[in-house]
Amino acid sequence: MKFVQLAMFRVFRRCHSTLGFVFDIDGVLLKGQNAIPEATDTLNTLQAQKVPFILLTNGGGVLESARCEFISQKLKLHSPLLSRQIVQSHTPLRTLVNKHRRVLVVGGPADSARGVAQEYGFREVLRPIDLIRANPKIWPFHKYTKQEIDEWSLEPEISKVDVDGRNEPIDSIMVFNDPRDMGSDFQIIMDLLNSEGGLLGTRRTYSSSTPSVPIIFSNNDLLWATDFKLPRFGQGAFKIMVQALYQHTNNGKQLQQLTLGKPYKVTYDYAHHVLIDYYENLQSGDFEKPPCMPQLNVAPAKSPFDRVFMVGDNPESDILGGNSYNWDTILVRTGVYKDGDFEQDSKLAKPTFGTFDNVRDGVFAALEKYA
Ligand code: G3P
Ligand code: MG
Repeated sequence: MKFVQLAMFRVFRRCHSTLGFVFDIDGVLLKGQNAIPEATDTLNTLQAQKVPFILLTNGGGVLESARCEFISQKLKLHSPLLSRQIVQSHTPLRTLVNKHRRVLVVGGPADSARGVAQEYGFREVLRPIDLIRANPKIWPFHKYTKQEIDEWSLEPEISKVDVDGRNEPIDSIMVFNDPRDMGSDFQIIMDLLNSEGGLLGTRRTYSSSTPSVPIIFSNNDLLWATDFKLPRFGQGAFKIMVQALYQHTNNGKQLQQLTLGKPYKVTYDYAHHVLIDYYENLQSGDFEKPPCMPQLNVAPAKSPFDRVFMVGDNPESDILGGNSYNWDTILVRTGVYKDGDFEQDSKLAKPTFGTFDNVRDGVFAALEKYA
């Protein structure tokens, strides 16, 4: 690809627009654990030309630094991605550390989401497995092995969630990533939503659209692209099932909840701050400066970009969100979207810049046009 990079170098040098790129991960850069080949050339070229870009994913469950390291290795990037270059589904939740003290964090592999929430600054981080360790009867069909419980859970004296013994109320439920043991997660979440004041083992005597404990989902993806040949259910499917169970246990009342992630403006505002922050780092060369800490629902006062391109594989999250945010959007055929989808569902959000076979074709076409 040397020729293309040289051509891009010439093209880019004449570039007078300040362009930024925001990349979705699953279905654009990765398929499951595997790199999408064209992604390497794309990010290496942008990095070489100091074109500002960040990653914006509805994925998560691990530290931002760990995700960046994994992607940099998988894509064999010349320069590793910086943790200030990524916004995961739950990254904006760090803004709530002073509002919620004792949180139940759901989803993600092993016990990694606990470490993420603790790194954000949440003071008491509980996981469903802690509740199972304290009282296995809370869900008799859980799939955790003894070894997993020993390795991934807190002792009851620390978690203080034993419904028959010491038990302190939980302030909120945060779904960081896709559940790994849905049955126990469903039961424990419903117990808390219908509890008396967030106390496990209690049941309020009335129904309401307002849950006893607030719940925040970190993304709304019904489907997402993995290395299976068809898209798989995502956290949005889990959310639909929690909402249905809540309605059934609250006389048909709808669950009041907050959902972050693409396509919502709250997440695009947050990502826009992160992209501007990274652009300023590139300009100043000062990467020692602590990364920005945007507040929820605060849009950047101004933006240095003439154009920002959102590159995604899912019309319902990446393209809808980018279009609504007045960014240009590039849709790729390497993930959820398949040709024919727009004919099947005319309401699907269409990309403003075009649909391309892969991320490199889309990004290089954008650079070519706006040079
Ligand atoms: O859990 C990940 C999935 O929901 C989609 O991730 O990177 O395509 O936004 P991404
Ligand atoms: Mg995707």
